[in-house]
Amino acid sequence: MGVSYRKARAKAMAFRRLVLVLLLGVILFVLLLGANAIVDLITRHSFETDQSLRMMHNNYTLDFKHLKLPRQNELSISLEKHNQMPPRNLDLYPKLAKDHIVIVLYVHNRPQYLQIVVNSLSQVAGISETLLIVSHDGYFEEMNKIVKSIKFCQVKQIFAPYSPHIFANGFPGVSPFDCKGKDDPDKMKCIGTRDQYGTHRSPKIVSLKHHWWWMMNTVWDGLKETRWHHGHILFIEEDHFIYPNAYRNLQLLTELKPKRCPYCYAANLAPSNVRSLGERWESLVAERVGNVGYAFNHTVWRKIHRKAREFCLFDDYNWDITMWTTVYPSFGEPVYTLRGPRTSAVHFGKCGLHQGQDEKAACMDNGVLNVEVNEIDRVPNVRSDWGLYVRKNQEGYKAGFRGWGGWGDTRDHQLCLDFAKMY
Ligand SMILES: *[C@@H]1O[C@H](CO)[C@@H](O)[C@H](O)[C@H]1NC(C)=O
Repeated sequence: MGVSYRKARAKAMAFRRLVLVLLLGVILFVLLLGANAIVDLITRHSFETDQSLRMMHNNYTLDFKHLKLPRQNELSISLEKHNQMPPRNLDLYPKLAKDHIVIVLYVHNRPQYLQIVVNSLSQVAGISETLLIVSHDGYFEEMNKIVKSIKFCQVKQIFAPYSPHIFANGFPGVSPFDCKGKDDPDKMKCIGTRDQYGTHRSPKIVSLKHHWWWMMNTVWDGLKETRWHHGHILFIEEDHFIYPNAYRNLQLLTELKPKRCPYCYAANLAPSNVRSLGERWESLVAERVGNVGYAFNHTVWRKIHRKAREFCLFDDYNWDITMWTTVYPSFGEPVYTLRGPRTSAVHFGKCGLHQGQDEKAACMDNGVLNVEVNEIDRVPNVRSDWGLYVRKNQEGYKAGFRGWGGWGDTRDHQLCLDFAKMY
């Protein structure tokens, strides 16, 4: 009896010792883990502070190699997913024409304008043969409603996932630590790099150049619907009225381009001088690339893409002025576009804004557009047997112009460079 009791007691004590050792082991393990987490927290925190400080002291070094896209919020992530959705109206238009020219319409938030553009597109001959991509800068229900109402061709909506308009509390939107106006980052302990005129970034203003560059990269190299497109892509904006003959004219121009104007990089629907409706001669015209209704192919895009640094580091918030003063001049030869002598697209604004000087220009009043569309604007009016008039040494922005500023923040430079290496 006594022996077996002592044996049982010894067994119990050995068991208790084992449990104790195990327990100590677990406690030690947990302590170690905790310490690690704390060290991690401290280093990460000081890393972030370090980054902010570097940016504040204006010697933030750009990373040309690695992707450093900003952290996304929920809306940004869901919009990026949405961009993968197939086009709408596939039931109505299951097939695209073999030689179609994709149309990309880039918009922000002017529903009255967009409605006019969409109405004009609905009247364009040949529109049902192609794909219309609407690229949105920001997310706005009224804009979506108009796009969803389109029934005249395949339509795909894409949304810029890094638009400043969808970041309410941090870069690329406004962050609470951002410098404002002409703040001195060192004195104010704020984040930002000033442009050449001493002014800090404005998210609303930089959003235009960001959207254009993101859209170009996405359409040419990202979307499965367009990345293998061999033909041209036409780009138009939410304040461009498109004439009924625009698509057929553009088909003619892109076909004529290699034969009649081998040094033309693009084809345009409208003159580069946005005030002009064309010379109305019986002649084709080659001139500098304008920003209304321009179309080019993937080969030209590759040339532009190679100049990402020039585009992203030039201190001007306008994408078109950036192209004219840095990208095109870097090609080493004059960059021409081919167009007809009578415009097939026109930029419009609110009536009365330029009273007196722009009597012939299109303008909008209460959702009604004041523009003249004649019979000749409804049918193709470019002829292949015409001569070619080349406008040389045209005035306008060129290499040497230092830029209007608004694009001095290194964070914008980095985001822009990142867009060029996303795909
Ligand atoms: C694209 O356009 C350029 C300029 O007009 C031309 O040189 C090039 O051959 C075209 N590429 C293709 C694949 O058609």
